[in-house]
Amino acid sequence: MSLSAVVDGVGSYLPEKVLTNADLAKFVDTSDEWITERTGIRQRHQAADGEYTSDLAVEAGRKAMEHAGVTAADIDLVVVATATPDLTFPATAAITQAKLGIKQGAAFDLQAVCTGFVYAVSTAEKFLITGQHKRALVIGAETFSRILDWKDRTTCVLFGDGAGAFVMSAVPEEEAGGRGILSSHLRCDGSMVDLLYVDGGVSMTQTAGHLRMQGNKVFREAVNRISSAMIEAAKVADINPSEIDVFVPHQANQRIIDGVVRKLNISNEQVISTIAHHGNTSAASIPLAFDEAVTDGRIKRGDLVMLEGMGGGLTWGAALLRY
Ligand code: UT7
Repeated sequence: MSLSAVVDGVGSYLPEKVLTNADLAKFVDTSDEWITERTGIRQRHQAADGEYTSDLAVEAGRKAMEHAGVTAADIDLVVVATATPDLTFPATAAITQAKLGIKQGAAFDLQAVCTGFVYAVSTAEKFLITGQHKRALVIGAETFSRILDWKDRTTCVLFGDGAGAFVMSAVPEEEAGGRGILSSHLRCDGSMVDLLYVDGGVSMTQTAGHLRMQGNKVFREAVNRISSAMIEAAKVADINPSEIDVFVPHQANQRIIDGVVRKLNISNEQVISTIAHHGNTSAASIPLAFDEAVTDGRIKRGDLVMLEGMGGGLTWGAALLRY
């Protein structure tokens, strides 16, 4: 029996506190005009003291489970894509699993920075279609505010905190009606580590460190790599990119999104952009945008949706699904 990995529910969560561009301009040499023009970002959310990545993950996960109509007893796999775990170990997925009252199955974190959610969806799909697990809670959750150098205007204005989640189920292909993950294409080029990294870690410095990025160099790599991953994912699924109903990109920079849209002839109405009010929430950005579009009706059951991400590693990738 062939199985499909179907997205049954989505959910997201943003911490209460909002930092606007004007708020940032009070303590770092920047302006609303520069940030808006260069990135499209107008505000970002920030986790409260004592609010951890797992807390954001739990809120998003709970909403996705409610949306899917499932309970903790139905989930047998928790995957958390994050570059900002609560602790060095155990995995934030393990902490999230316990907080959600999930008592069976496996839980692990996946680290591919801003491509984390695409990697996580692709990974969960493999566990589901082989029959090893039946229902996965796949979460992208980040508290990037904890690894930003708040004196570095070239990075601290870009990122925000948040979480988003999918419930994905293994469904016999004949019952799935064409829904499910149709293909994914994952890539990494580890030779470009120095373009985007955190300058601390357990083994090297025994500190959490701060995010460092040569933004314009990353920018130059972005449009071509993202577009080619999307083309590959579409080719494997035997889909022409023009057939895509909705495009949910990673939200790093509106100019990168616009470049990909132009290159692949996607119309602006098909694009879900949340960058203005979320900033770049790394692994959380795709499910946050996806959930917003499901909630306001721009993504409907049966829609063909393309996801893409690119980030530290460099990692990049795309996934195509029928929702
Ligand atoms: O999600 C993970 C992947 N990350 C990305 O995809 C990020 C990709 N990169 C980008 O989005 C853009 O490169 C940035 C938004 C980070 C920067 O935009 P840019 O147009 O590439 O600017 P730049 O780095 O070339 O800097 C232009 C100028 C510089 O000043 P000078 O040297 O021309 O005098 C910067 O010092 O803008 C200056 N600048 C700022 N000015 C005001 C940099 N950051 C700021 C700031 N406010 N926050």
